[in-house]
Amino acid sequence: MKAKAALSLALAALIALPVVAQDAAEPVETPEVPETSAFRTFEPTQEEWENFSAAGRIPHQGGEAVYNAVCAGCHMPDGEGAVGAGMYPALAGNEQLEFASYPIYVVVHGQKAMPPIGGILDDQQVADVVNYIRSSFGNDFVEAAGEATAEEVAETRQ
Ligand code: HEC
Repeated sequence: MKAKAALSLALAALIALPVVAQDAAEPVETPEVPETSAFRTFEPTQEEWENFSAAGRIPHQGGEAVYNAVCAGCHMPDGEGAVGAGMYPALAGNEQLEFASYPIYVVVHGQKAMPPIGGILDDQQVADVVNYIRSSFGNDFVEAAGEATAEEVAETRQ
């Protein structure tokens, strides 16, 4: 008896579902996949190589835009860091940012729980975001110790 009640409930659900989901449930045709006759190796031209290696780059320009798009999720919008699932150091008032070389290195290559971010940013974007964190949230390190430059970022990548 119990089983029958459950069955009719399930049937009722099945009948009700298409009515609710009518618009969303358009039938999807499975495309025919032609068989590959031979394997190809990837021998990119210079241009293809550049396209592929830049495919994940973010479009944001300027330190603030890059920070908000990429860094704020972990370090928080005003750089105060966070403690939760992990420990995200505060950038506000952080003496480690005095000289550009250290934050450039961390952004490009990553460090412990911070992933390397150099792959999705070009040299100028890295320099801009590093200068942004060194001159925001009350920090005054750009003024005191000089700007990060795209050239310095390029050297750090090597
Ligand atoms: C996925 C989370 C995450 C993202 C995204 C992230 N960070 Fe980090 N960041 C960390 C963690 C975790 C550390 C601590 C690493 C360690 O233990 O040395 C860190 C460390 C740093 C440090 C070194 C701080 C210190 O006191 O030594 C700097 C500078 C930094 N991050 C800047 C940035 C910038 C700029 C961005 C964006 C371009 C960014 N981070 C994006 C998680 C993140």
